[in-house]
Amino acid sequence: MSNYSRKSVLLIIAFIVALLFSTLIGFAMLNSNGKTSSELVLVSFLISFISSLILLLFVNVYVFKKINQLLVTVRDFRLQSDKPSSNINYTSNELSNLNSEIVAWAEDRKNEIERLKKLEVYRREFLGNVSHELKTPIFNIQGYILTLLDGGLDDPSINKNYLMRAEKSVDRMITIIDDLESISQLETGELQIEPERFDIAFLVKDVMDAQEMKATAKGIILSLADELKPVFVLADRFRIRQVLVNLIVNSVKYGKEYGETKVRFHDLGNNISIEISDNGIGIDKEHLPRLFERFYRVDKSRSREQGGTGLGLAIVKHIIEAHNQTINVMSTAGVGTVFSFTLKKG
Ligand SMILES: Nc1ncnc2c1ncn2[C@@H]1O[C@H](COP(=O)(O)OP(=O)(O)OP(=O)(O)O)[C@@H](O)[C@H]1O
Ligand SMILES: [Mg+2]
Repeated sequence: MSNYSRKSVLLIIAFIVALLFSTLIGFAMLNSNGKTSSELVLVSFLISFISSLILLLFVNVYVFKKINQLLVTVRDFRLQSDKPSSNINYTSNELSNLNSEIVAWAEDRKNEIERLKKLEVYRREFLGNVSHELKTPIFNIQGYILTLLDGGLDDPSINKNYLMRAEKSVDRMITIIDDLESISQLETGELQIEPERFDIAFLVKDVMDAQEMKATAKGIILSLADELKPVFVLADRFRIRQVLVNLIVNSVKYGKEYGETKVRFHDLGNNISIEISDNGIGIDKEHLPRLFERFYRVDKSRSREQGGTGLGLAIVKHIIEAHNQTINVMSTAGVGTVFSFTLKKG
């Protein structure tokens, strides 16, 4: 409602009140002939018109001043929140502005509550998963120590062996803690990507050499297409090494005996696509959408048996996304799996 139309409304109300009041006075003053004093009616009309207009103007100024104060308070509240909703188009009607502000504010609060609820679920799940994963190695260590204390220490057939097993469990805990640290750094954006130009074909060969013993133990061949051709990319060398280790280790862990893991590169113009394929156990379609979630494992017992926590692919995805690139997976159960990610050409 504009100022102009608001004033017209006030005038009309004052007019109606004055009309009613003067009509009442006119009726009250009717004499025996059925006549009334027209001066008296006119004076009462004028007095009631002016007084109701003054009263209405006062209420109008006071009420709209309060509405404007309320509008400013609600807007300030809304703008203080982390993610205020988009700007509101104000009109000259204070009441509808106030209404829009309150609606936007309520919407922001609703979104905030949803976000906090999701975070709470994530926090609970995360804590549950972490304690669950740490329990196994801790109980193992406890078991070995108790057996050693119960006389095993003097038994040369088990003492060294149990200490070595306990050490393996400690290693497992350290890996979990390291992975958790990487995840939390990547999720809070603390981890800075330091891009450099390097030959990723050389890095792949390096990672393959390091994993060769594990692969040969299963009869798996690790191969790189076009071994001699360098492929330059612009990325964080250390982090991409972590990605390659995760994907190549997975291809061996979940590969079939006497299988093969192949790495290929494709030139996509501005980017290079890196493809890691295996002919291992594969992954059922239903699991693919959740594969990159932290702690997600297709076959929990099989993965744990292999020393897996389900954090590897979550870390891989974070690293690739921190490079503003993408990672995809294609898999057929019983046939094999292909992971492919992109990097900027160097
Ligand atoms: N190449 C693959 N072939 C078949 N299944 C795979 C392959 N890579 C990953 N998976 C499945 O995806 C799950 C998640 O992989 P991820 O690397 O995140 O965890 P993990 O290997 O179990 O443990 P971590 O990597 O933390 O040691 C694995 O448990 C496995 O079930
Ligand atoms: Mg893994």
